[in-house]
Amino acid sequence: MNAHDSEIISGMLTGKGYRISDTLEGADIILFNTCSVRAHAEARVWGKVGELKKIKNEKLKIKIGILGCMAQTYKEKIFERLPHVDLVCGTANIYEIPKLLGSLKTREKVLAVDNNQRDTEKKIDISERENKAKAFVSIMEGCNNYCSYCIVPFARGPEVSRPVSIIIDEIKRLVDDGVKEVMLLGQNVNSYGVEIKNPRLPRQSGGQEKSKIKIGFVKLLEKINKIKGLERIRFMTSHPKDASLELFTAMRDLEKVCEHLHLPVQSGSNRILKLMNRIYTRDDYLRKIDSLRKIVKDCAVTTDIIVGFPSENEKDFNDTVKLMREVGFENAFIFKYSTRKGTKAALLKDDTEDKIKQQRNQILLKLQEDISRKKNEALIGKTLEVLIEDVNKKNKAEFIGHTGQARLVVFEKDDKSLGDIVNIKITSCTGHTLKGEIE
Ligand code: 5AD
Ligand code: SF4
Repeated sequence: MNAHDSEIISGMLTGKGYRISDTLEGADIILFNTCSVRAHAEARVWGKVGELKKIKNEKLKIKIGILGCMAQTYKEKIFERLPHVDLVCGTANIYEIPKLLGSLKTREKVLAVDNNQRDTEKKIDISERENKAKAFVSIMEGCNNYCSYCIVPFARGPEVSRPVSIIIDEIKRLVDDGVKEVMLLGQNVNSYGVEIKNPRLPRQSGGQEKSKIKIGFVKLLEKINKIKGLERIRFMTSHPKDASLELFTAMRDLEKVCEHLHLPVQSGSNRILKLMNRIYTRDDYLRKIDSLRKIVKDCAVTTDIIVGFPSENEKDFNDTVKLMREVGFENAFIFKYSTRKGTKAALLKDDTEDKIKQQRNQILLKLQEDISRKKNEALIGKTLEVLIEDVNKKNKAEFIGHTGQARLVVFEKDDKSLGDIVNIKITSCTGHTLKGEIE
């Protein structure tokens, strides 16, 4: 979501005549789009922006901005801690950035953190994107789930969906620009449409009538599936409580929807899941995965896991290890718990030593690597469909891309181009990468 916001901001600014500088020294404006989800991400921003004090002293006219979740979380306190920062702009105010930069010509400091909801009607500029073959498309933002450890509901606000017409128009523009795959983004994509009403829409445009239409995530997938020229649809993130049979059936029946579900489990211990306010048990989760795999043949499942949540003991941790073995995820992102001020879990004692968190982190990483390697080895000799996404930065003679199941594949270039979907015969693998040849 943050990476996509950075693309939106770049698109807005280049549209107004700004250019992206290749070097820090060459820049007149330096913007940090920040993440608050873990303390580590924030610590890096405090450090990096701190280092810029020297540049600011040498080049007074340089403007430094902090955008996104940290801006929303710390507001004017950022100016107190880092007096060389000029602009602080929260998650829902990002569309105002060109205007805010303009006002820095006459004002010393600019703070914009007042919107609690982003303008869902905004037609965004799609010109600045990391990748030409695939693109992010935000469908909803914010979260109402309040998992006890998570800052997102505070930093991003309540759930709000973008209208269907805006999403479809954006995807069509992307497809016209050569995009073959879209990743639909939202903190909680399965709640798409639940909060679709937008009081800001003018009645004359028929907006209020339109905004009353409630279509859910599956209906949205059906509509996107019909877009000509689009080849693949992915989405992220789903909450296990909303991952329904209806969703799994749609994943099976809609040919463009990839056979991959990212379904964060967070812990394998019922006691910890309860403290996390995740509203499901490990058995509920396992049952969901079971029906998913029955309905969607060869569906890849990936997950997020937090180790060292307050009071997590050896037994709780072992329950997570067991769950990981039982499910056999295609990939897992493991995070060490960090306290986020203002969340419910911040009232609990962060009582797992960092050394233990680190150990648990390593155990799960190693376990996942073994599982991923075994799964990858089983694919040697098979032919898989891969979208050519980029030239391999580590070896310019190779292309990289992903399979429908989100497996990374590296292969030697031939006359095919970025954006082509090709058949690759898998010849070897490591824990996380497949290597192959174009057939
Ligand atoms: N500490 C560690 N990890 C966290 N996540 C969210 N909040 C925290 C926290 N306070 C992880 C969750 C989520 C992922 C995006 O970040 O696993 O799914
Ligand atoms: Fe945070 Fe995701 Fe829980 Fe929402 S569902 S509170 S974004 S972890």
